[in-house]
Amino acid sequence: QTKIWVVDKNRSELEKEPAIQEAALWINKGEVIAFPTETVYGLGADARNDKAVKKIFQAKGRPGDNPLIVHIGEKEQLHHVTRSLSCCAEQLMERFWPGPLTVILPKKEGLSSRVTAGLDTVAVRMPSHPVARALLQVANVPVAAPSANRSGKPSPTKAAHVMEDLDGKIKGVIDGGDAGYGVESTVIEVIEDIVWILRPGGVTKEQLAEVVGEKRVKETTTSSHAPKSPGMKYRHYAPNTPLLLVDGNVAMQREITKRRHAGQTVTVMAREAMRASSEEANHFVSLGQSLEEVAARLYDQLREADRTDADVILCETFPPDGLGRAIMNRLEKAASG
Ligand code: TXA
Ligand code: MG
Repeated sequence: QTKIWVVDKNRSELEKEPAIQEAALWINKGEVIAFPTETVYGLGADARNDKAVKKIFQAKGRPGDNPLIVHIGEKEQLHHVTRSLSCCAEQLMERFWPGPLTVILPKKEGLSSRVTAGLDTVAVRMPSHPVARALLQVANVPVAAPSANRSGKPSPTKAAHVMEDLDGKIKGVIDGGDAGYGVESTVIEVIEDIVWILRPGGVTKEQLAEVVGEKRVKETTTSSHAPKSPGMKYRHYAPNTPLLLVDGNVAMQREITKRRHAGQTVTVMAREAMRASSEEANHFVSLGQSLEEVAARLYDQLREADRTDADVILCETFPPDGLGRAIMNRLEKAASG
């Protein structure tokens, strides 16, 4: 039985809420709890407790070679998980923490080796969501937390998504309403003053460049000798229905017509601007208008599109700037073509 605690994230003194206290106690006892962050819902366990961390991998069905992000509530906790900090990494934490930035750092003894999948580095982030912060403060341990979905499925942006995937498999979920950004944190690693983006996310390349300069920010996807993130090799975020990415209104209209003639049921997932040219489709699932809206709705609408009776989901593409970079990265992983 998975317990659901509903918590209003806008309440003051969240750390005194009985729900937060109880959830934190379960984490201290070695259980796993799902909780909201400003990106997506996370599935948390005490990062120093090997048995607890094992439960995360079991509940998610996650491959053991894909390491987890360690979440901290205060910057002071950093020295419990890492040995050293480059000044560039420190600058970026200063600017973007708490928030959707994950930094790969040399790991320190004491963490479960499952968290780091045997690597000598650890991924660390300090979330800004008030519920996540309260939970981390009360639990007072570093909390390992991947996204709270079954491995391979779209990440959860609502407590209901967590229940869809993990009901009965975890101790509880704190329902703090919709997550914020809707795409996961940006994962970076600083090597010799170059900031490598291992996974694009809530903090954009442009924002990183504002702090360290454009020349020093690089994307691993465009370089063959870049550092690697184990998670990026897996297919992710995939709905059960085949997902196809289509560039622009004209191509979209053509693709819909072709498939309707072939007798297929078609669901289009796109921004409002494409609604008119999608008239012939059987279903239209809206991604809103701004890129912020697209990011916030993306995973929810992927699940929604998957619930339609479609043979195929056609989704529009986005220019790879700002948040568009993270959105396209997720769509490409979810898509079959
Ligand atoms: O927004 C987020 O980051 C969410 C919330 C819950 O905080 N978490 C999340 O975790 O997205 P997860 O496990 O779904 O993704 C973690 C990513 C994976 O791609 C993993 O391979 C990478 O971080 N990663 C973790 N440790 C690493 C390390 N030591 N070196 C390189 N990549 C690492
Ligand atoms: Mg994930």
